[in-house]
Amino acid sequence: MLDWTDRHYRYMARLISKHQLLFTEMVTTGAIIHGKGDYLHYNEQENPVALQLGGSNPADLATCAKKAQEYGYDEVNINVGCPSDRVQNGRFGACLMAEPTLVANAVDAMRSVVDIPVTVKHRIGIDDLDSYQFMTDFVGEVSEAGCDTFIVHARKAWLSGLSPKQNREIPPLDYERVYQLKKDFSDLTISINGGVTSLEQTANHLKHVDGVMIGREAYANPYIMSQADSLFFDDHSEVLTRHQVVETMMEYIEKHLQQGGKLNHITRHMLTLFMGLPGAKQWRRYLSENAHKPGAGTETVAKALTLINR
Ligand SMILES: Cc1cc2nc3c(=O)[nH]c(=O)nc-3n(C[C@H](O)[C@H](O)[C@H](O)COP(=O)(O)O)c2cc1C
Repeated sequence: MLDWTDRHYRYMARLISKHQLLFTEMVTTGAIIHGKGDYLHYNEQENPVALQLGGSNPADLATCAKKAQEYGYDEVNINVGCPSDRVQNGRFGACLMAEPTLVANAVDAMRSVVDIPVTVKHRIGIDDLDSYQFMTDFVGEVSEAGCDTFIVHARKAWLSGLSPKQNREIPPLDYERVYQLKKDFSDLTISINGGVTSLEQTANHLKHVDGVMIGREAYANPYIMSQADSLFFDDHSEVLTRHQVVETMMEYIEKHLQQGGKLNHITRHMLTLFMGLPGAKQWRRYLSENAHKPGAGTETVAKALTLINR
């Protein structure tokens, strides 16, 4: 998720669950190929991690997929779900649902240069192209190019008239369509996305599909993922408590500060870690009010931690 699931968030998310598959923010092929920064840098502790690409030029996507593999990403995912104007102007994101041949060509080009899985995240439809048949034609053609994993945001997107935020809220969720897709393409790995707010709901979806992607809730309440390893990955080893997560994050923060980083780059992702516990609001407020101050360091986090009742 843009601006949210950066490497600092992902580092924390990995402390909470060892096995969940993490996704980067969408990175455009243009940024990777022509940009000045290192857009692919991540912490080695993050794996398994998928790089999500925004782009539509098969050769560029292939170049970026190759780099992703060299960097050690476990999967490369094409964004066919984002409806923002900026993305549409670049002719990628959700509007690519209307161009299955182009997406298939991209998958083909990418698969010819990497061994890691090439996957696609898409919607159930766009604008008036929202029949079940439209989606299955898309999935059918793209899967013939060798993509065997689809993550389906179970609502359509309106390409004009709605903001990206509204496009995550207004078009109704239709989980049944995604379940049906799995029935009709039983050999493919189909993951569902959209509106999932608990691991209980996750377990229910898993009766129908192969995977569940949790977006906003995993950010708004990251510790819900702490039971994921035992529930879904058969790993019953002890999970870190929230306090242990913070203590480990403090070591990570120290390194970040030594490299010239700022405290709030990291703590902004930690604000909701104690969601629902006594002191959670005070924790959040203290960090929000103090972590951006010049020279703020781990002592600010330690102080915030004293506001949580053990
Ligand atoms: C701030 C924000 C940024 C997002 N950025 C991306 C993105 O870069 N790539 C993507 O595929 N989806 C992105 N999404 C959409 C989510 O991945 C997800 O499909 C959507 O929020 C529905 O799932 P949820 O209800 O579990 O959040 C973003 C969502 C939010 C709230």
